Amino acid sequence: MKGLIIIQYLGGKSRISNKISEVINNEVSRWKEQNINTNISDNRERERESNTFVSLFCGTCSVESKVKGFDKVICNDNHEYLIEMLKGVQNGYNLPEEISEEQYKYIRDHKDENKILSGFVGFGCSFGGKWFGGYARNKTGTNYALQSKKSLHKDIDNMSNAEFICMDYRDVYIPKGSVVYADPPYNNTTGYGKQKFDSEEFWEYMREISKYNKVFISEQTAPSDFECVWEKEFTRTLDVNKDNQFKVVEKLFTHKGK
Ligand SMILES: C[S@@+](CC[C@H](N)C(=O)[O-])C[C@H]1O[C@@H](n2cnc3c(N)ncnc32)[C@H](O)[C@@H]1O
Repeated sequence: MKGLIIIQYLGGKSRISNKISEVINNEVSRWKEQNINTNISDNRERERESNTFVSLFCGTCSVESKVKGFDKVICNDNHEYLIEMLKGVQNGYNLPEEISEEQYKYIRDHKDENKILSGFVGFGCSFGGKWFGGYARNKTGTNYALQSKKSLHKDIDNMSNAEFICMDYRDVYIPKGSVVYADPPYNNTTGYGKQKFDSEEFWEYMREISKYNKVFISEQTAPSDFECVWEKEFTRTLDVNKDNQFKVVEKLFTHKGK
């Protein structure tokens, strides 16, 4: 895609964030019109209906920055440095426009000296956006720091009222009647931390919160009680020189309900 500026982020949705947010925005309008939240049954429960958008695995907020019409936006991710970076940018931290390999290595080895900067360099200046996965460089001399800075500002500058929080997705408080977006790590991968992601537990939790909220899940496959509301094939790149490309079908699921 010519002219598209994206921050490097493993599993990031930058390239398709417009599409995903469009689907969420359309579905939400329809959902609100039809008032199909039948689980909120009596008046007392209805009072608790919220106009909140909650993202449980926000990453660099490529989708979250494009959803519309919510009074409150809550973005969660359990990566401490990532959330520090997002909060820093929101509060006006001046990110660097250039990072040398030497600086990259220093920051990697002293992560806690400046968590905002570590979050930025650890993802935005690394191969394939993998957390300190090696200093990003390519044959055309792309300035990854500058590209990532521009991309982050493009998204986060639209999110001045968002609340960024850092916890496990199951601990996030979700006001009843929220619209929830979940873009979890791929099934059984260790791409983001030491612990494997338990997909079974994840889908069970999605069932639970779907009783009271409109939940959208980005995944390639889902259990049979979830339906696909959108899908698109696109190319994923795992390394910065684009040698390691493969096709995946991105899908968006919701729970079928009763
Ligand atoms: C596929 S990525 C999300 C990418 C994001 N949509 C974007 O476009 O940048 C999955 C995210 O889940 C986070 N994560 C992994 N396990 C988590 C957990 N148990 N609770 C909350 N976040 C978690 C990772 O840090 C990672 O940022």
